[in-house]
Amino acid sequence: MGPTVALATRLALGSAQFGLDYGATNPGGRVPPAEVARILAAAAQAGVTLIDTAPSYGEAEAALGGCAASAVFGFVSKTPRFHGRPIGAAELAALRRGVEASCRALRQDRLYGLLLHHVEDLLAPGGGDLLRAMREAQAAGRVAKVGLSVYTADDIERALERGKLDVVQLPFSLLDQRLLHSGHLAALAKAGIEVHARSIFLQGLLLSRPETLPARLAGIAAQLARPLAECRKASIAPLAAALGFVLGQPEIAHAVVGVTSLAEFAAIRAAARPLPAAFDWQACAATDAAWLHPGHWPAA
Ligand SMILES: NC(=O)c1ccc[n+]([C@@H]2O[C@H](COP(=O)([O-])OP(=O)(O)OC[C@H]3O[C@@H](n4cnc5c(N)ncnc54)[C@H](OP(=O)(O)O)[C@@H]3O)[C@@H](O)[C@H]2O)c1
Repeated sequence: MGPTVALATRLALGSAQFGLDYGATNPGGRVPPAEVARILAAAAQAGVTLIDTAPSYGEAEAALGGCAASAVFGFVSKTPRFHGRPIGAAELAALRRGVEASCRALRQDRLYGLLLHHVEDLLAPGGGDLLRAMREAQAAGRVAKVGLSVYTADDIERALERGKLDVVQLPFSLLDQRLLHSGHLAALAKAGIEVHARSIFLQGLLLSRPETLPARLAGIAAQLARPLAECRKASIAPLAAALGFVLGQPEIAHAVVGVTSLAEFAAIRAAARPLPAAFDWQACAATDAAWLHPGHWPAA
């Protein structure tokens, strides 16, 4: 298996774009079901084995379940959001119903992973019971791995105080190298926790020409200047740089990529190769972390 193929098997498909008008640079909105089917067929052919989804991604789970090609994939789904309120019997029942609903929509007997979608639910009074209910679903054979989707190093620290996790999904990219330099990536891998990286293109911004971005994202445009200059210096395309950097981290088991077309996936597959030694990835890290959390971006 050549390096490019091996790297492609560590890709995972994101699916927010399959169920929602999602993405800062996504002019087309939700990806039509026929195109989703074409993307899944190409991903299966490329050796991709995992798809990231969630009940909160609109019709994404049903769209995925409706694709014949989906039979070959494992699915990572998420728990409902409880907005940090105390966790009691009603919330635990909602979590269990959610697992059943996701399995039904995806036409799967078992989920590859179930992630708590929001750390504040784990940290809420009774939050530990959510993890116990997820472990019960695991013991019942409905879920293979239990985990959490985070935004920050602090989320990871506080979550691990609450219990053992099998998987952590975290934001990581050429622009957002914080969890590498903080040592959290290495610590998670050392603890045997499977790491899934997302937002590796920062919702597509890393692949955009800064001058085309709306004024409200001017702060990001400024942060993009340096990575783009380093790409020019090393004669590497931003797509290859963004992918090569994330897939170059041995601690990262899967890089979740969002795509809105078969052409985008094909370009990702072709670009997945190791970074050239001359590429100064350290210099690409954002200098203003305030722009790294999509939830804090000024709304359209
Ligand atoms: N809290 C959470 O658990 C959470 C949060 C965010 C995302 N996610 C997961 O991560 C997935 C990825 O979402 P993300 O926001 O992190 O996005 P991302 O992967 O960083 O970026 C996706 C965007 O990159 C652009 N793109 C992809 N391939 C391209 C190519 N070959 N050429 C040019 N542009 C390309 C597309 O933008 P255009 O639209 O411009 O084509 C696409 O919408 C989601 O689908 C979801 O499954 C989870």
